[in-house]
Amino acid sequence: MELVHSGKVRELYADGGDLIMVASDRVSVYDVVLPTPIPGKGRVLTQLSLWWFGQLDGVPNHVISGTDVPAEWEGRAIRCRRLTMLPVECIARGYLAGLGLASYAETGTISGVRLPPGLGEGSRLPEPVFTPTTKAAAGHDEPMTYDQVADVVGGSVAAELRRATLEVYRRGAELAAARGIVIADTKLEFGLLPDGTLMLADEVLTPDSSRFWLAGQWQPGRPQRSLDKQYLRDWSAGLDWDRRPPGPAIPADVVAATQARYQELYARVTGRE
Ligand SMILES: Nc1ncnc2c1ncn2[C@@H]1O[C@H](COP(=O)(O)OP(=O)(O)OP(=O)(O)O)[C@@H](O)[C@H]1O
Ligand SMILES: [Mg+2]
Repeated sequence: MELVHSGKVRELYADGGDLIMVASDRVSVYDVVLPTPIPGKGRVLTQLSLWWFGQLDGVPNHVISGTDVPAEWEGRAIRCRRLTMLPVECIARGYLAGLGLASYAETGTISGVRLPPGLGEGSRLPEPVFTPTTKAAAGHDEPMTYDQVADVVGGSVAAELRRATLEVYRRGAELAAARGIVIADTKLEFGLLPDGTLMLADEVLTPDSSRFWLAGQWQPGRPQRSLDKQYLRDWSAGLDWDRRPPGPAIPADVVAATQARYQELYARVTGRE
């Protein structure tokens, strides 16, 4: 099979007209791939994405099969439709954290969306908001206003992206809430079929692409305990590292703690081990 893309976490192979998307155990922090893998992570991301795609019926997605993949990648690969990806990271936020919090603290807005005053770290927003960014080929993603998205993809596709992103967030957050999990925010990617049909692609509502908190421990005004990549960001923030490559090796106890969080999140959300 022809390797058509190697990203920070995934490899894409062409198989006839299909793509095989293979999730590795690599992990990136601040867009830098760290030298130490998290064993089993690719499998968790893949199985959780497949589970969510199955829950989100009515939202067209790129999955063809989670099992019809080469045996060597079984469990961590998805056969999917090859799409023309849209150059927008579609972020939905229901709570304030991360870069959204930093932007709000500075300007009162995120990606041009004005939020009410008085919110703090971990605050629940009055309603979920669409806060897109660029999908930079190199370097960091930059916030985009809705009008900038419309300039890039056209007004009708922009409206559809916002609607679909908020719908996936709302449905995901509702399902997770029933299992004691808060989804604070998530990043989605969409692409187009040759006939222009918009499809949800990439990974969905995983601990690499989203913030997950335990609902029982949620308390605005402070950092939340996270069942996602935030644990590694926090660990790396305590190091003398300028966030440029090469990234630091991850010690064994931090690898194990990261694995445990990803597995706990998977088990809680899906009800499976
Ligand atoms: N159905 C699809 N068709 C084409 N490309 C897809 C599809 N689903 C996901 N992708 C692309 O596959 C890649 C997944 O790899 P990965 O997540 O490792 O990349 P990344 O490091 O996030 O981003 P980059 O593209 O900058 O390497 C992303 O570029 C994503 O846009
Ligand atoms: Mg990615």
